[in-house]
Amino acid sequence: MPDRIWPGIPDGTRQNPLVDRAKDPVAWFEKVYSDIPLTTQWDDGQHSGDGLGTTPSSSSSQPRMVFSMLADLDVADGHRVLEIGTGTGWNAGLLSHRLGGGSVVSVEYDGAVAGEAETRLRAAGLHPLVVVGDGRRGFGESAPYDHVIATCSIGTVPPAWVEQTRTGGIIVAPWGTEYGGEAIARLVVGDDGTASGRFTRSSAFMRLRQQRPDRAPHAAYLKGQEWPADGARSSTALSPAEVGGWVEQFAIGLQVPGAFWTVERYDDGAYTLWTYGTDRRSWASADYEPGASEFEVVQSGPRKLWDETEAAHRWWQKQGQPGFDRFGLTVDSDGERVWLDSPENPVPAVN
Ligand SMILES: C[S@@+](CC[C@H](N)C(=O)[O-])C[C@H]1O[C@@H](n2cnc3c(N)ncnc32)[C@H](O)[C@@H]1O
Repeated sequence: MPDRIWPGIPDGTRQNPLVDRAKDPVAWFEKVYSDIPLTTQWDDGQHSGDGLGTTPSSSSSQPRMVFSMLADLDVADGHRVLEIGTGTGWNAGLLSHRLGGGSVVSVEYDGAVAGEAETRLRAAGLHPLVVVGDGRRGFGESAPYDHVIATCSIGTVPPAWVEQTRTGGIIVAPWGTEYGGEAIARLVVGDDGTASGRFTRSSAFMRLRQQRPDRAPHAAYLKGQEWPADGARSSTALSPAEVGGWVEQFAIGLQVPGAFWTVERYDDGAYTLWTYGTDRRSWASADYEPGASEFEVVQSGPRKLWDETEAAHRWWQKQGQPGFDRFGLTVDSDGERVWLDSPENPVPAVN
C-alpha cells in the first residue's frame, strides 16, 4: 500500500482524513488491515496536499469486495487473467500469488499509479505484467484469457473484453447505470461472441475514466430562473426516501435511462430530490418532509422525470422488489440488455 491513504467507509462513498505512514505508522497499519476501501489518489493525480480532493480516482478496494469478486471469478490452476484497473496492485498481487505472475496481466490508465504498483509488486516478489493503457481495449497481445476482472465500474461492457475471453471464460465487472445503484456482473462468454450472466452482489466502484458521466450543473436546467421556474406542480404519495436505496436506484436506472439525481438537504431533515435528464432540459424536484404522506413535485422539460421514476419504482415493487441477484446482463451483437430472472424477460424502459 502507498504511504498516504484516505480510509473510506465500507460502502465506499465517503473518505476520512489522510493517514500518513510516515507520521502515524500504527494508524496506517490498522487501516490497511481493516475491511475498508482506501483512497490513494484524487482527481486523476491533480490533487495535492493532505486534504480530501473532489473525486477519488484510484484506491485499494475493500477486502470483502475483492475476495467476493475473486470468488465470482473462480480461477483454477493454469488459468490466465486480465485485470482492468491496477490501482495499488493488491488484487493483481493476489492473483499472481495464486496463479503465478506469468498468468496475470493488469492494465492501468494512470502511468504514475501503474509505476508505483509495479514497484511494490516487484518488492513483494510478484511479477504480473502491468500495462499502462486504456483498459477498454483489454490487452490483445496476451489474449485469450480465461477470465477478465474489472476493478472500476462500467455502464457498458467494452467489446474487447468479450473478444479476448475464451469460450466458457468469465468476465466479472461492476456495472451500473448513470442513475445510480451498481452490482457485480458475472458473465460467461459463449462461442458466438456473446456474454451473459447474473449480477452477484451490490458494489460501489469508481467509474472507468472514459465512462464517467458528463453532467450539466443545476443552473443549466433552471436557466437562471427561481424554482419552480416553468415547472408544473403536482403531488405524490411516493416518498422520495423510497427511491433512494441502492437496489431501488439500480432498478429505476435500468428503466429511466439518461437521468441522474442530487439531494439538497435542509436543517430540519427535509430535503429536495432533484432529478435531471441528460437531455439537459428535463428536471424534476420532489420535496421530502419527515412524517409527511404527500410530497410536492415540480416537473419541467420534455421528459416527466418524476413520473418516470414513479413508474419504474412501481414496476420494481410489482416484481416483488427483486434484489441484485434476480437481475442479469446479456451482451451480444444487438448491444446489451438487463433482464429479470431470465434473458427472455428484459427489464422494460418506462417509455
Ligand atoms: C478501484 S481502483 C483499482 C483497485 C485495485 N485493483 C486494487 O487492487 O485494489 C480503480 C482503478 O481503475 C483505474 N482506471 C480507470 N479507468 C481505467 C481505464 N480506462 N483503463 C485502465 N484503468 C483504469 C483507475 O486509475 C484506478 O486506479
